[in-house]
Amino acid sequence: MIETEGLSFTYDDGTKALQHITLRIREGESAGIIGTNGAGKSTLLNHLNGWFTPQSGTVTVDSIRSTKKSQETLRRKVGLVFQNPDDQLFMTRLYDDIMFGPDNLGMHRKESEAEAERLLRNFGLWELREKPPSKLSQGQKRFAAFAAVLVMRPPILVMDEPTSDLDPRNRKKLISLLRSLSSTRITVSHDLDFIWDTCDRVFVMNSGRISAEGTTTDILADRALLEENGLELPIRLQD
Ligand SMILES: Nc1ncnc2c1ncn2[C@@H]1O[C@H](COP(=O)(O)OP(=O)(O)OP(=O)(O)O)[C@@H](O)[C@H]1O
Ligand SMILES: [Mg+2]
Repeated sequence: MIETEGLSFTYDDGTKALQHITLRIREGESAGIIGTNGAGKSTLLNHLNGWFTPQSGTVTVDSIRSTKKSQETLRRKVGLVFQNPDDQLFMTRLYDDIMFGPDNLGMHRKESEAEAERLLRNFGLWELREKPPSKLSQGQKRFAAFAAVLVMRPPILVMDEPTSDLDPRNRKKLISLLRSLSSTRITVSHDLDFIWDTCDRVFVMNSGRISAEGTTTDILADRALLEENGLELPIRLQD
């Protein structure tokens, strides 16, 4: 279970990106977080795996409170797929990037190699494993970043704009892959149809705050609520 209590965060330049965020996501649940550009979504996600530690308020994952000391433990529990794949991929060979996490966590090498191969094949990246990640296409980078996180088999998966750069067929592939996972999932996306297809519950963020929370169908079908928060209905509900 992931909980934040009164979480606030201000960047060095004075931008108040998060203001008193309190939320609770239960084990096995798939939660979506939506909101306009600049609402604070990425800043919030970056707190969930210890990448950022709280300035005020708390973040708790399975009863472990996020502090500088618990960073390592949190990263084992929570796999974060960053909004920008370039923040995730930094080696000179794709395969090394995929194996970096498991090696770093001291996971069983042979098992990780088998899992890496399975994921790379599934994402159509196996033939590209010797390539520098910097020379992959955007969509290939997106899937590579996914593979680099999934290979660590994190019990909680956090994704920031996972469908950006994916072609329609690969977007569908990601939907089926996510539906097949039993892990707790948190997804930030502007693709509300994707949220509709993959999430049970939705939080709406507006100017650093949570402005609404409810089941996916209640939130995403509420045109007035979405408009108040600068958003639009999912395409499938538009007339
Ligand atoms: N490194 C930074 N320094 C200062 N301000 C920042 C920094 N990163 C983000 N911000 C500001 O914090 C606020 C929240 O940004 P954040 O990236 O969390 O938004 P977001 O909801 O993820 O937006 P998007 O949908 O565009 O990805 C914005 O006003 C942004 O300008
Ligand atoms: Mg963002």
